[in-house]
Amino acid sequence: MQFDRIIKNGTIVTASDTFVADVGIIGGKIAALANDLTDSADIIDASGLYVMPGGIDSHVHIAQPSGDGIVMADDFESGTRSAAMGGNTSILSFCMQEKGDSLRHSLKVYHDKADGECHIDVAFHMIVTDPTPAVLGQELPALVEDGYTSFKVFMTYENLRLRDDEILNTLDAAKNTGALVMVHCENEDAIRFLIGQHEANGEFSAKSHATTRPIAAEREATHRALSLAEIVDTPIVIVHVSNREAMEEMERARVRGSKVIGETCPQYLMLTADDLDQNEMEGAKFVCSPPPRDKASQDACWDGLQRGVFDLFSSDHCPFRFDDPEGKLIEKGKKSFRWIPNGIPGVATRLPILFSEGVQKGRIDLNRFVALTATNHAKLYGMYPQKGTIAIGSDADIALWDPEKNVTITNDLLAQGCDYTPYEGLEVTGWPVLTMVRGKTVVKDGELSGEKGYGKYLARQKSNLIA
Ligand code: URP
Ligand code: ZN
Ligand code: ZN
Ligand code: ZN
Repeated sequence: MQFDRIIKNGTIVTASDTFVADVGIIGGKIAALANDLTDSADIIDASGLYVMPGGIDSHVHIAQPSGDGIVMADDFESGTRSAAMGGNTSILSFCMQEKGDSLRHSLKVYHDKADGECHIDVAFHMIVTDPTPAVLGQELPALVEDGYTSFKVFMTYENLRLRDDEILNTLDAAKNTGALVMVHCENEDAIRFLIGQHEANGEFSAKSHATTRPIAAEREATHRALSLAEIVDTPIVIVHVSNREAMEEMERARVRGSKVIGETCPQYLMLTADDLDQNEMEGAKFVCSPPPRDKASQDACWDGLQRGVFDLFSSDHCPFRFDDPEGKLIEKGKKSFRWIPNGIPGVATRLPILFSEGVQKGRIDLNRFVALTATNHAKLYGMYPQKGTIAIGSDADIALWDPEKNVTITNDLLAQGCDYTPYEGLEVTGWPVLTMVRGKTVVKDGELSGEKGYGKYLARQKSNLIA
């Protein structure tokens, strides 16, 4: 057979297997996995490297307005570029419904932002903020048919959150159409109560972001979301889980028979609430929700990754410039922590952090790494086996990893729109040295080699939990 490209002599790692073989690629797809492939004018030597499915980051915010005029630091060009630098070949980004808008209109807005801009493949989850009967009864089913098969709802953020009856109706609409619902679990009323108390006491600094969003607020909302899904009898994804008490709620729901998928993120392994407690607004660089907790919670999240409480490891990339051109973040954040936009960057650092802290430190093995960062995302969100594995017939979405490469993370390595990384100075071992999307090199040795616009929009199937 004549191949367009061959990756030779690498160690292939999938979610289930590790083996030495060559990869033959034809027309952007994997056409052969065998030893001694030779027939190609384009041979990449992967001796000493791992050949892994490119990362799929199923929790990324790009070009989403923050609601108070602060603009997100990444557009689809910079966001997908940075994702590729970090070994990702697909992202699932959020399309947020503005209140009063139809889902179709919202989708058009985000497609217009993404079209022609992406370096890697992109799909959308819809954030439902206005679940009217027309939205749930007519639009949602039509969108599922069109390949938008997952929806996120918020229990927090004043302008975005849904009431319990709205969540029930959304879960029911999803159940009836075979869609999957992701939930951000924090109790907004409890948070508002605590913000009021803190401000009344004259506490306005960034560290109060963490104390006004305590574990109890996350645990309670997690319990409630799980109960609502149990009442409707439909699967649920609990996103960005930060601590053991929320994990225990998920495990109890599973024992009762619920289909529960859990996600955690690098910030809950690597950061703590102490990072928010810094002078001169530095703490604002670590403001995300739920907030990072403490060492015990970090240990709990590792335990959850090891024991399968979590199936997904995502970035929740949600970048805001610290020193934004109009200085709004600092200016507003100085008045009170409540005005600091929630979210931190992380699409480029997700994989190196889990590889270094997880695989290299012996906490998880290579196959679990692949499952947590690619395969499970593809299966859960209806992209498997086109995406998320190395198999004949799958897209040649591949990251070559040098497991011994030592890198000190600095923001300029990440090629993102954000002007900082919360992981500045972190030393990691293991780095993606080549990212290939559908057989084409997009990043090699930290240099972008593709053109924007190569990345395609991905319509998706229903979740493997539902089909
Ligand atoms: O602080 C965060 N996580 N911002 C992103 C939006 C969300 O809640 O996922
Ligand atoms: Zn609009
Ligand atoms: Zn969220
Ligand atoms: Zn998010």
